[in-house]
Amino acid sequence: MNQNNEKMWSGRTDGSTEAICDEFNSSISFDKRMYREDIRGSIAHAEMLGKQGIISEDDMVSIVNGLEVILADIETGELEIDPSCEDIHMFIEKVLTERIGDPGRMLHTARSRNDQVALDLRLYLAAKEDEIRAALSDLIYNITDIAEKHAETIMPGYTHLQRAQPVSFGHLLMAYAMMFLRDADRISDCKKRTTVSPIGSCALAGTTYNTDRIYEAKKLGFDKVSMNSVDGVSDRDFAVELSAAIAVIMMHLSRISEEFVLWSSWEFKFIELSDGYTTGSSIMPQKKNPDMAELVRGKTGRVYGDLMALLTLMKGLPLAYNKDMQEDKEAVFDAVDTVLKCLKIFSGMVKTMNVNTANMRKAAAEGFINATDLADYLVGKGIPFRIAYKASGRAVAYCIENGYTLETLPFKIYKEFSELIDNDIYDAVNVDNCLARRKSLGGPSKESVLEQIAYVRGELNG
Ligand code: ARG
Repeated sequence: MNQNNEKMWSGRTDGSTEAICDEFNSSISFDKRMYREDIRGSIAHAEMLGKQGIISEDDMVSIVNGLEVILADIETGELEIDPSCEDIHMFIEKVLTERIGDPGRMLHTARSRNDQVALDLRLYLAAKEDEIRAALSDLIYNITDIAEKHAETIMPGYTHLQRAQPVSFGHLLMAYAMMFLRDADRISDCKKRTTVSPIGSCALAGTTYNTDRIYEAKKLGFDKVSMNSVDGVSDRDFAVELSAAIAVIMMHLSRISEEFVLWSSWEFKFIELSDGYTTGSSIMPQKKNPDMAELVRGKTGRVYGDLMALLTLMKGLPLAYNKDMQEDKEAVFDAVDTVLKCLKIFSGMVKTMNVNTANMRKAAAEGFINATDLADYLVGKGIPFRIAYKASGRAVAYCIENGYTLETLPFKIYKEFSELIDNDIYDAVNVDNCLARRKSLGGPSKESVLEQIAYVRGELNG
């Protein structure tokens, strides 16, 4: 039995928990990162109690001052967070009471750790949502910069990983920019539901004190308060949906990672990642491994795990607070930490990579990515698309058999596939022309890509 450590909550029990249970029950090792939010929340709470006359002005002032000094002392390292405390909330309150005496014991009036922890987590995650958004913007700006340089860099676009139709490198990159832009939007949307104040819900059933929840929320920069006290302490949707939004970001990062791994291979050689973002092999001297991209792809799995952990954690919980909910933090913190690291890594990796435009062009010239354009050419001469499609297919088969491309196939042979083919065929199947002609909204022509870049930049600035 551990009897030295008197519990703040001892009363009904003598608080003499087994040491192994103290350790099991404790969350301070991972909730200590919310010390700022805990102190901010407590300052707002004391100010509300003072304003409402629930505690005296003097007590309010000494609590607020005491908390401000504690914050400064933690920041400077003067005050170390005691790992033997149950959680960060208990730690701060304990130090406050040790330092200022009785007024410290009044802070927890009209409050419970249940609404306190919900508030701290919301404050903490709202700030992280801003950080994630900023990291996404940074990545998107880097992507658009490269896309702008490569708005005319032709390469094959793929379906089924088979060369399909001409696109530009800028066009493909902008596809990822669109994904990350939606991600930024999702994070902003999460923030709307994160910045709702649960404080004042107390343990679950509100309070008999004449509190002012709206005043307290405003002090914390929240426009809204939770409108049901049981929901206020039980809701973790904001953590679940943030983890879900993060899982989608990771899915996008994982897809672009996969492309980078492929594109940087000897088989493709479309890009070369910079030395700063690659590693060598301990045995094969020629290797330049895309470890960062692979790790981002790998870490996607653990973030999906975080989301599953949260969903599973919440699915069977009766109202209101249950200790199970202490498990929410490690999962959502891991998701947040992981995505922030991955976004930063990716942003640097994109910015510093080399683009091998010659190899992209070579691949574009070899894969019959202009076969649709040949069919479209025949449609232009008055043939229905389905028939034109067959003629183009036969021409491609002939080229493959006889070592030609659609650009080098002799005119005489072209004629065998359709009488309607003229001299202008070589213009029609020239891959640069094929790219330039794809001017449809959202398409790969230079103008379309520049339009996409302007759209994305506008959305980010707006
Ligand atoms: N450490 C706890 C958590 O993270 C704080 C809330 C504790 N509330 C309680 N009634 N035991 O969830």
